[in-house]
Amino acid sequence: MTTPDWHRIRQDFPLLDRQVHGKPLVYLDSANTSQKPAAVIAAVDEFYRQHNANVSRAVHQLGSEATALYEGARKTLARFIHVHPDELVLTSGTTFALNLVAYSWALPRLKPGDVILLSRMEHHANIVPWQLVAERSGATIRVAELTPDGALDLDALRKAMTGEVKILGLTHVSNVLGTVNPVADICREARKRGIITVIDGSQAVPHMPVDVTAIGCDFYAATGHKLCGPTGTGFLWGRREHLSAMPPFIGGGEMIREVRFEGSVFNDAPHKFEAGTPNIAGFVGLGSAANYLQDIGSAAIQTREAALLAHAMEAMQSIDGLRILGTAPDKAAIISFLIEGTHAHDLATLLDLEGIAVRSGQHCAHPLLQFFGVTATCRASLAFYNTHEEIDTFVAAIHKVRKLLA
Ligand SMILES: Cc1ncc(COP(=O)(O)O)c(C=O)c1O
Repeated sequence: MTTPDWHRIRQDFPLLDRQVHGKPLVYLDSANTSQKPAAVIAAVDEFYRQHNANVSRAVHQLGSEATALYEGARKTLARFIHVHPDELVLTSGTTFALNLVAYSWALPRLKPGDVILLSRMEHHANIVPWQLVAERSGATIRVAELTPDGALDLDALRKAMTGEVKILGLTHVSNVLGTVNPVADICREARKRGIITVIDGSQAVPHMPVDVTAIGCDFYAATGHKLCGPTGTGFLWGRREHLSAMPPFIGGGEMIREVRFEGSVFNDAPHKFEAGTPNIAGFVGLGSAANYLQDIGSAAIQTREAALLAHAMEAMQSIDGLRILGTAPDKAAIISFLIEGTHAHDLATLLDLEGIAVRSGQHCAHPLLQFFGVTATCRASLAFYNTHEEIDTFVAAIHKVRKLLA
């Protein structure tokens, strides 16, 4: 594998050239949303300039082009995560994808006494839909706990997989801790026990090779805007037999074959889950993003980000009173931290004045922060387009800001 030219690759991202508060931007918030390469911006622009029409409705040339581009994006995404395109539902993001599984697969099947097993480190998008369907079905939620370093307690998880558990919802990578969960092993265990696995891949797909078929889950969701693609895009992969057995979630145009007032005949999956006009330009952009990342190579991205993470973890050791949440052995480039005597929001606000964008708050993961006994953290999340120099700038800025807050 030849090493990509990371300096040149960074130049693909026009926004990274800008200044913030008179300082060069250091963007360390990619777990929130990633920046977009020029190729993605150009693909969206080209769609609106040359091909804009609705999909699957018009027989005219533009309609055929738009449909081909939209379906082409589905195929590209399917290739990217190693699944069949007929099993890939295009959604507005992970949140919609997980709600689709909860309402369409789980709700009709759950009954009182059933258990939905969720890990402590889930994003609210993989907690709240389950709470809503649990309330309506009489099922209950059980929590798989963590070890103090923020890894999943695998022994406890195994013990928690009892006969009543019908569904396991698990994030592939924690958006707060960076913990990478051994999802393939866990899905194998779950499958033996007849538990349906729903994996949230939002923080995994952008940062490492993901072969969904090899993972062996039942459903896998991810969001496009963290994957160098436009906002309002994402997907749900589901095993063909599940998608075929699931009723539509949202009704309307595009998802039907025939409508009579006596009743409607629905389209096949994945189209039966894609009611209404989709975010066509967004998916054209997301397809372009997947091609872009494929050209760099997900394995190369993973290696690059591991080096950036190692540099950051080492450089941050110079900060007095530093507490890092999440030090599991298998960790992606996400660093949640606190500094004694400073509030996360104050720190993030002052870092912003230095041109440095980090996120502060609860990261849509209240139960996880409760586990660590904190109300907010700062989070620096890295991507392959960051540089070692930016990490040094970030750490130097923390030292400066610290003095101001002392
Ligand atoms: C792990 C994880 N799951 C789900 C989501 C929700 O994604 P979206 O808001 O794009 O639907 C996020 C976004 O922050 C996330 O990090």
